[in-house]
Amino acid sequence: MTQKGLEEVVAAETRLSDVDGVNGRLWYVGYDVHDLATSSTFEEVVYLLHTLRLPTEAELDELSDRLVAEREVSPFLAGMMPTLAQQTSPMSMLRTGVSAASAYDPDGWEDTPEANERKAMRLIAKTPTLIALYHRMRTDQEAVPPNPKLPHAANFLYMLSGEEPDQEDAVALDTTLILYADHTMNASTFTARVIASTLADMFSAITGAIAALKGPLHGGANEESMKMLEEVGDPSNAERYVKDKLARRERIMGFGHRVYKTEDPRATHLRRLSQELGERKGDPRWFEISAEIERVVASEKGLHPNVDFYAASVYRHLGIPTDLMTPVFALARMPGWTAHVREQYADNRLIRPESEYVGPRDQVYVPIAQRG
Ligand code: COA
Repeated sequence: MTQKGLEEVVAAETRLSDVDGVNGRLWYVGYDVHDLATSSTFEEVVYLLHTLRLPTEAELDELSDRLVAEREVSPFLAGMMPTLAQQTSPMSMLRTGVSAASAYDPDGWEDTPEANERKAMRLIAKTPTLIALYHRMRTDQEAVPPNPKLPHAANFLYMLSGEEPDQEDAVALDTTLILYADHTMNASTFTARVIASTLADMFSAITGAIAALKGPLHGGANEESMKMLEEVGDPSNAERYVKDKLARRERIMGFGHRVYKTEDPRATHLRRLSQELGERKGDPRWFEISAEIERVVASEKGLHPNVDFYAASVYRHLGIPTDLMTPVFALARMPGWTAHVREQYADNRLIRPESEYVGPRDQVYVPIAQRG
């Protein structure tokens, strides 16, 4: 029997993350995401996902230094950016940029475990630079070189806006990156693992993952959520908006999940961040609209917000343009994708499922000249 959407099909063994969809729990390498979101940093989570243990201070410093040293993109990539900034959407730029990053990679076509670990770190380090560079160019602003003194999250905000973020904003972004870093066999990670299972290279696998993330049913949902908040405009409009949409049998973006049947544990933190940022910046409107939409969707459909819903208002407060919200998801997911690719290579078998044929059988071939 066809398992449409591969629901509940176990496609791989992993030591990276685990979800309990009934109780709304998520772990990376056995560590509760609540503990990581409140006590850890993105760099620490990168280390965890790639070595399957938490680092010592010295190990974390070493990893952070490596990431800082790899932030600059090659002249080849920088040279492509004016065209990409003019001609492509942000996710298309990222898909093309990551694919093009294989050119001039110091490890070339070497595919040893060590070379793949280095490629993974380069992709993690360079993705924020690609996104910021793209944004500066499309808005006719000078590119802002990476600041080696700033951690990953703070440096991204710095390269995007040209201003060093305050500590609270930097921590807020860092927390969202931790929450997005990995999530079992989601569509983009599965795509990456399918490509890796053919023994294609790391850049090909991650390019495919980005393509899968682009769609509104996956990573694109945070952007769609932001557009919805803008359309609603005021908490008092939320009830009518949601009811109308549901009456037209349209989906409410940022709600529902294949695995979680209760609150997505990541949404708990993002809701808190959305509220805190709104209060701190004197603009609680986005949180209030979000909370009202959440209330109506719960009462009308019994659906919970997923990771993307409150991420939208958080990113708005951090000055991230709506169409860069999915690319930010990608930069956050990079450690998860690359760790899954390495895990796939380490114990590989070609992923090749079956299909169930439902078309006509035993058709008689009629030569083209005799077809009516
Ligand atoms: N808005 C309205 N109805 C929704 C919904 C949403 N966001 N998500 C699910 N539903 C409804 C479906 O219409 C369907 O109802 P029906 O049986 O009456 O037709 C039912 O819930 C099951 O939906 P289905 O599409 O089979 O579930 P799924 O497991 O394939 O979908 C998602 C998971 C994430 C694709 C889905 O919830 C969705 O489209 N959400 C919006 C996009 C989004 O936020 N994506 C980010 C995910 S992290």
